[in-house]
Amino acid sequence: MSGSIRRIALNTGGGDAPGLNAVIRATVLSAMHQGWEVYGIRKGYGSLLDGEPLIEMDRETVRGITHLGGTILGTTNRGNPFEWPEEQPDGSIVLRDRSDELLEAFHEHRLDALIAIGGDGSLHIANRLAAKGLPVVGVPKTIDNDLAATQVTFGFHTAVQTATDAIDKLHSTAESHERVMVVEVMGRDTGWIALHSGVSGTADVILIPEIPYDIAKVCEKIEARYASGRRFGIVVVAEGAIEREGERVIREAAQPGRAERLGGVAEWVADQIRERTGIETRSIVLGHLQRGGSPTAYDRLIALRFGAAAVRCVARREFGTMVALDPPQIRAVPLAEAVAAIKRVPVDSDTVATARDLGISFGD
Ligand code: F6P
Repeated sequence: MSGSIRRIALNTGGGDAPGLNAVIRATVLSAMHQGWEVYGIRKGYGSLLDGEPLIEMDRETVRGITHLGGTILGTTNRGNPFEWPEEQPDGSIVLRDRSDELLEAFHEHRLDALIAIGGDGSLHIANRLAAKGLPVVGVPKTIDNDLAATQVTFGFHTAVQTATDAIDKLHSTAESHERVMVVEVMGRDTGWIALHSGVSGTADVILIPEIPYDIAKVCEKIEARYASGRRFGIVVVAEGAIEREGERVIREAAQPGRAERLGGVAEWVADQIRERTGIETRSIVLGHLQRGGSPTAYDRLIALRFGAAAVRCVARREFGTMVALDPPQIRAVPLAEAVAAIKRVPVDSDTVATARDLGISFGD
């Protein structure tokens, strides 16, 4: 496609994350600064495929939203146009490839570019749409921080702060009752949130998918702590943590068009600690609390920078790319590279070494 940019669209896909609205604001204002018209697509690609009108975005629609959690455009994690779920008369779900329809709708709306704000799943979709000729620039969103091509995704910092605040609060009740509290945090198959909040919140044990744990070692650590007179304990467990030779704990199996839901590992770990040590133990799942609320100043800034940088990429016609933090710069990386592999916690990283030096156990 050639010619000047006049009309662009933006959407938010996948799970929400603090900072989405800041990206939306920066994108809209930067695009207006370029003299372009901007349209919001509701619920991922929903309004393009359902024929719902696009939202005309202007200064008024993005006023006062930088600090707000969620997304004013709505989002969904069942919105893959290549595998669009359609309910059949018998209630079953059939997946249909609607990507060609999506491209047609995009051109019917005379759009020149799309800025797609999303995590791993949404950026995979953006990459496949780019391969079909859609002029798209991605913005990396996810509290999980599991995208390899960027040093950090927006939303992660806020989620870590929320988890750390929760761990701080759990300390007082754990100490008062002389209990072990097992806290489950999100992160899918990576342990970024668990590691960062666990170290910051001075956990005794941190369990992450990258370091399979031995429940006997976890119990040893707790018992040694009680024996030394510190009669309470905090265990932070990532939802995707795996016991040696074990498997991830799944709350809900995958369904057509939707990945499986993880969850329940904290309860299992707590049951094991209680049974093996006799120590009173409780579990808590922080869940979607970690995705909500106002983004931290760090996430706001990175989100605003990503949004403005995405517009500059569109202006330079750098399509099929994702904006990525490569300090001190934001640069454009090919979407294909961005989604090639997830970013796991390096087990030899400084943060893991720091945790070990501080006496935190990984149950290994
Ligand atoms: O990817 C973000 C995330 O919050 C993961 O940490 C979590 O496993 C998943 O989304 C939860 O998804 P849902 O909102 O569908 O329960």
